[in-house]
Amino acid sequence: MTHQEALEKAELFQKEASKQAEKSYWKPKYHITAPANWINDPNGFCYFDGEYHLFYQYHPYSAEWGPMHWGHASSSDLVEWRTRPIALAPTDEYDKGGCFSGSAIEKDGKLYAMYTGHVDLDKSLGGNDRIESQCIAISEDGDTFKKVENNPVIKKVPENIGIRTEHFRDPKVWKHGDLYYVVVGVQTLEESGAVVVYKSKDLINWEFLNIMAKSTVEENLGFMWECPNFGEADGRDILIVSPQGMKPEAEKYLNVHQSGFFLGKMNYETGEFDRQTAFDIFDYGFDFYAPQIMQDEKNNRCIMISWLDMWESKMPEQKDGWCGMMSIPRILKVKDNTVYSLPAPELVKLRKSEVHHEVTTDKTVSFDDVAGDCYELNAVFDLTEANGVNLKLRVSENEETDIAYDKETNILLLDRDKSGSGIEGQRQIEVAPIDNKLSLRIFSDRSSLEIFINDGQRVLSSRVYPTEEATGIVFVPNGLMNISIDFYKI
Ligand code: FRU
Repeated sequence: MTHQEALEKAELFQKEASKQAEKSYWKPKYHITAPANWINDPNGFCYFDGEYHLFYQYHPYSAEWGPMHWGHASSSDLVEWRTRPIALAPTDEYDKGGCFSGSAIEKDGKLYAMYTGHVDLDKSLGGNDRIESQCIAISEDGDTFKKVENNPVIKKVPENIGIRTEHFRDPKVWKHGDLYYVVVGVQTLEESGAVVVYKSKDLINWEFLNIMAKSTVEENLGFMWECPNFGEADGRDILIVSPQGMKPEAEKYLNVHQSGFFLGKMNYETGEFDRQTAFDIFDYGFDFYAPQIMQDEKNNRCIMISWLDMWESKMPEQKDGWCGMMSIPRILKVKDNTVYSLPAPELVKLRKSEVHHEVTTDKTVSFDDVAGDCYELNAVFDLTEANGVNLKLRVSENEETDIAYDKETNILLLDRDKSGSGIEGQRQIEVAPIDNKLSLRIFSDRSSLEIFINDGQRVLSSRVYPTEEATGIVFVPNGLMNISIDFYKI
């Protein structure tokens, strides 16, 4: 089958499948997801031809992971996204196991998508279980992509540099000066995470530059770094990686895999990234992986979108014929030598109605006009005289998702034991009030909650699967406190 035929077939299948998926109550109203079936990592996040583009790992034929295609959505304002034709299908010798994750960049008015061609091998033959190489597809109109004849444009990692050749994926390309650079995720011979960097004049011919960064087994930074990203936020270089297999440390790293960053400095001569901060994760919730950033030159900012799910978690929406969604776009800000993530300011456009309440109380309170399943809620709790607070979201008779804050320990705990559909567990983060105030900005969308604490200092994102009836929002002060609430229906 030609690439074009495979795309047409997938489109038709998707159209039919979307009839069922659209009926699903849990399908997001304002987050990016596919019309039907499985999605994972964001790919190719960029600005091209007057729009933001976001591609994603996509299996159009079922709500489970399968041979990866690239789905595609675009938006002029980061708020209203429209689905575009499926961009890539795994039809060639070098990508027949899947068009895995990658990035996109504009060159001479054309859009270049760089992705990993994945091929499965028979492990019982004793060798590697896969071949992964880097490939390019070019689009003139942003819709139709043609794979180049030179594919794969990067066949293999050099053999003698202490890096395994098997796992080699997720290219993130950017331009610096006159040259293009690409960072690709790998693992060392000892099986710790690493990334390699290449340079090119034309995006087609690539030259190996160096191991850009790597970890040791002792560091507990995982056995493989997936989805590397590189960019700049507030004048600082930032290297983003998604390490697989970090071990839990107390209440940290409880998800199967993590996504986080190092601030530092890229040396373009040597190709080495000097790590200046310890690894820290972007999000302390249950569901956040493989974030991708784009440098928004127009507005001089760095925007991040991630997959709002996690490998191996229960995904009850699969029974409705779809699976997976993206986070809201977040702006990265460097502050106090760490990275804050804030909802993109454009998202205020989503606000449909506005309600404000201000109360001083030590009793449980709720408000008739502060309830729902799609909303933005901004709440500021003055804890000067109180010991803490519980905020309960998506509440029905038997359901709730509880956010508990304890001023003594500074621990904020997210409890999903009653979030629906048998999902469970807690995630927590230590975060101090600012001037005795804890501020929460929360985006709720049918089956997700994204909780931004103290202006993006910390974030917890999670999928939840309550029933339609679970629309209550309940404030439970532990002691006398002033609560200020701004609530917007979306
Ligand atoms: C990360 C990842 C990538 C890979 C893709 C496959 O979630 O495992 O490393 O390219 O998903 O869908």
